[in-house]
Amino acid sequence: MSAPSQTRRISVPELRARKGGEPIVSLTAYTAPMARMLDPHVDFLLVGDSLGMVVYGFESTLPVTLDMMIAHGAAVVRGSSHACIVVDMPFSTYEASPEEAYRSAARVLAETGCAAVKLEGGVTIAPTIAFLTARGIPVLAHIGLTPQSVNAFGGFRVQGRGEAHAAAVRADARAVEDAGAFGIVIEGVPEPLARVITKETNIPTIGIGASPACDGQVLVTEDMIGMFGSFTPKFAKRYAELGEQLEAIAADYAREVRARSFPGPEHCFAAEPAKPRDQ
Ligand code: KIV
Repeated sequence: MSAPSQTRRISVPELRARKGGEPIVSLTAYTAPMARMLDPHVDFLLVGDSLGMVVYGFESTLPVTLDMMIAHGAAVVRGSSHACIVVDMPFSTYEASPEEAYRSAARVLAETGCAAVKLEGGVTIAPTIAFLTARGIPVLAHIGLTPQSVNAFGGFRVQGRGEAHAAAVRADARAVEDAGAFGIVIEGVPEPLARVITKETNIPTIGIGASPACDGQVLVTEDMIGMFGSFTPKFAKRYAELGEQLEAIAADYAREVRARSFPGPEHCFAAEPAKPRDQ
């Protein structure tokens, strides 16, 4: 009898080694059932702090807590077996000092079973990335339109337009690479800038509103399937309208309940079980 096949998760070094190779595929997941459905198709699942807006209905990602990220991160780890799992560090859990970042990231790794954390920021946060990576915590960096800086940006705006701003984003990319990040999410920048950064860095770039030249792509799953409000960012291709489908299904159900046509006889139990299993 042959042993059952063991699936092994994609590791951080394997993702790191994909620079310039087969594009890295990533989607967000916040729950175990969603992770189960996406897991066979992606290289890494990102438990993004976008869950604050997508799942909890906040206006931004700022109110998301470490406990929320840990609960959702652990659920995604339980629901998956193939993809590498990366969990976002939420706002105000890593910025004050490298030591604070270490304590927060160590909790995320220990309590979820994920492989890596993601931090927003470039030059400023690079010393923290160096502190974490030197202590065995893999870090995915996030530059460009970093949503936790929404107030500083004055909205969710494209970053890196104009020579000086583009140079600053390029400096961010260099700084996080030098600090030991294994990859860089580049969000919401002009396409040529993401292309240049991809060329001048030696770690994979993961684009979202960036460039097809990036070493991989990530999307917020709910944006992609029409399950997050009526506004879709320009960069989020809508592959399905599941939100509209769900509304139509809820309307069908409501109509049937009000007409007493649901539940039908096939959904009801007999007084005496016909078979032992009909309970
Ligand atoms: O929080 C998130 O989902 C993210 C992606 C948009 C990259 O950071």
